[in-house]
Amino acid sequence: MSLLEDILKTEATATAELQAVASAEELEAWRIRYLGSKGAVKTAMQSLSQAPKEDKPALGKAANEMKNALQAAFKVRTAELADSAAPRAAGPRIDVTLPGRRPAVGHRHIITQTIDEICEIFGRMGFTVATGPEVEDEHHNFEALNIPPAHPARDPLDNFYIDPVTMLRSQTSTVQIRVMENTTPPVRIISPGRVYRPDTVDATHSFMFYQVEGLYVDEGVTMADLKTCLDQFCKTYFGREVATCFRPSFFPFTEPSGEVDILFHRPDGSTHWVELGGCGMVDPNVLEAVGYDSERYTGYAFGLGIERMVMRKHNIPDIRLLFESDVRFLHQF
Ligand code: DAH
Repeated sequence: MSLLEDILKTEATATAELQAVASAEELEAWRIRYLGSKGAVKTAMQSLSQAPKEDKPALGKAANEMKNALQAAFKVRTAELADSAAPRAAGPRIDVTLPGRRPAVGHRHIITQTIDEICEIFGRMGFTVATGPEVEDEHHNFEALNIPPAHPARDPLDNFYIDPVTMLRSQTSTVQIRVMENTTPPVRIISPGRVYRPDTVDATHSFMFYQVEGLYVDEGVTMADLKTCLDQFCKTYFGREVATCFRPSFFPFTEPSGEVDILFHRPDGSTHWVELGGCGMVDPNVLEAVGYDSERYTGYAFGLGIERMVMRKHNIPDIRLLFESDVRFLHQF
């Protein structure tokens, strides 16, 4: 093989090998093999001295061209390898064609949804929403509601007292007093919120639950207004087919007092009455305690259990499911 062929063959081999190089280490080995101080280019240059004089210009030209070509190719390949290594060094590649992962989206608890619905229904009947504190004094929880000190409802074992005169409210009726203290009649409010009683937890009891209180005081308010209001509410919330029933009862802050029940139809055709809460005409003592003229004004009040409504409407058999279950249960509402 002539020297010229040798040079051309070395250039072709070197170029092919350079294309196959896949790492920085292989690239460096290639550089030493061809461009290093004892590399193939150097060897070719040195062998020129032994060539016949007349061949030297052509051989020298070929050797120089090979050297320049390989140096240029080396530069290009170095840049290419650096480029393809960069994203790998920064972490796994992202496959933009994969479907995305949906973030978990929450929603309002069924009780919150129900409270909003209750406020909306009563809102259409002219009621505004009032709130009161959950840490209450005895005056608002008992005295102003005509519940005297000896009344069994005030037993420390039946309430969460914080100190002798402060407690977690046991009923939302407290808000009746707080609103009337600051408003001249007419008053027409509802007040949804949490109440607390040291009940043993079971399928229908909890130490914390929700009530919605209602109060309407004006001139000429009668029991017929109360019955119409609650009947309309129940039919709107539960459906036209439910019937309501008012049973006589007793509460210290209403006279007369009643309890409202609703008639449900079971899928098998049978029916049953479910108690929803208490109600009545505001006792004159309560009106006088907040400075209202009980000769001029009358009013009605009611307090309904919100969990009861939710459990009836959505067929939830155990109150604990609302407070202790994981979100998979709550997700369905
Ligand atoms: N506060 C009563 C309870 O927790 C419910 C109640 C009864 C509220 C009669 C009222 C009412 O406003 O008039 O058992």
